[in-house]
Amino acid sequence: RVEAMLKELEEEFMVSDEKMRDIIKEFHQEMDNGLKGKESSLPMIPSYVTKRPTGKEKGSYLALDLGGTNLRVCLVQLKGDSTFDMEQMKYPIPAEAKASTLFEFIADCVEKFLFLHKVPVDPSLGYVPCGFTFSFPVNQTGIKRGNLVMWNKGFSVPNAVGRDVVNMTQDAFMRHHLRVKIVALVNDTVGSLMTSGYSFPNAQMGIIFGTGTNACYWEKASKIEKYNGDDKDSIDEMVINMEWGAFDNALKLLPYTPYDNKLNRKSPNFGLQSYEKMISGMYLGEVARNALLWMIDRRALFGGRSSTELNTGYGFDTSYVSTIVADESADLEEVRVVIELSLNIPETTLKDRQTVKRVCRLVGDRAKKLSAAAMCAVLLWRPELLDSEEGVSVGIDGSMYQFYPEFEESLIEESKKFLGEERASRLKLVLSKDGSGVGAAIVAMIATN
Ligand code: BG6
Ligand code: GLC
Repeated sequence: RVEAMLKELEEEFMVSDEKMRDIIKEFHQEMDNGLKGKESSLPMIPSYVTKRPTGKEKGSYLALDLGGTNLRVCLVQLKGDSTFDMEQMKYPIPAEAKASTLFEFIADCVEKFLFLHKVPVDPSLGYVPCGFTFSFPVNQTGIKRGNLVMWNKGFSVPNAVGRDVVNMTQDAFMRHHLRVKIVALVNDTVGSLMTSGYSFPNAQMGIIFGTGTNACYWEKASKIEKYNGDDKDSIDEMVINMEWGAFDNALKLLPYTPYDNKLNRKSPNFGLQSYEKMISGMYLGEVARNALLWMIDRRALFGGRSSTELNTGYGFDTSYVSTIVADESADLEEVRVVIELSLNIPETTLKDRQTVKRVCRLVGDRAKKLSAAAMCAVLLWRPELLDSEEGVSVGIDGSMYQFYPEFEESLIEESKKFLGEERASRLKLVLSKDGSGVGAAIVAMIATN
């Protein structure tokens, strides 16, 4: 019976090569629609970033990097020789800030940072120039302007959707009497692309596989039909923030299971960010928890026992999934520690532990495949870049990419399959660790010069 249930899960979570090809095709259709301003699940947002970093940028900038888990405040010194120095402080974002006091929290952290690091005001400007990396969907109306489209990844600050993110932050700075001026607003994917572009001139794409997932890439200006900026005829290219977490919200193609549905129903953004909910760190543990409970309720696991921890929404963290999948020992000792100590389910059998590991693997493997499909789709959108001698670098950051077992290996293996060995050999994945802060400083520098 246990085996039959695992087989059923296997089928539900499977992503065949054929499915991957369909997803890639659909991505291309939706990218095209999005760029033309037609109805599309991919927002394809113009970032107003039109100049590539050269590595020669010089100067000192404050950078704010609001990720899914932490706020980082950085003082970045671009040195003009493709290198930079950075002093930074990392502040975990408390639940209260996620739910209401976010902009006050940001201003508080900036105030502390300016004081601790004795950051001087630029005498010629009368303020400290600042680049702001903001990891939520924003409809940009300029390089330092843009309205929040929606919250995701568990944030829910009221009265913010539809309003200008820079104004809201700048107002909080004013309340704290801070002489800091935001001169550039970028998505975290854009920050990551710009950072890798600082050292790798062939960087074409930035990806985040973290609490959420998303990507951006350099697009030819002539293809961005919906863009109507004053500089439309004078620019060659622009970075497009795809917001690919929203891909196929209509669930035409995605291998959507009852366990995803359970998550979706209880989610504050029901029906939205469907792709992200199958891929990113915020959600994988919850999908796995739902599948495990399905087995427990049928007495196919732990003799039918559960625990308060396992019964609690989001009580099974994605880091547990990582630990469980990584355990190669014969008696699955690490798996035992997670289940018995963290989840409080005593006396598991080896069979139980093996079952949990198989369920976690299924959820994680599906995430890896879907991640690779999305990356390959974007790379195949402009295959000529991969055919060129210099090849393509992709700047990637986020907790899934850094910590999920064999995540990067899987991206490489799958790209061989879908791009072909020859093209895949000219692809370089670069970890742009904590990179978005530097990226924001680079855009700030380019925007003010
Ligand atoms: C950080 C980047 O390192 O990774 C952020 O600097 C980004 O800009 C973050 O949002 C994503 O990772 P996670 O796992 O915190 O969502
Ligand atoms: C979510 C946000 C997106 C961000 C991504 C990664 O998908 O909508 O803007 O880039 O998370 O942090």
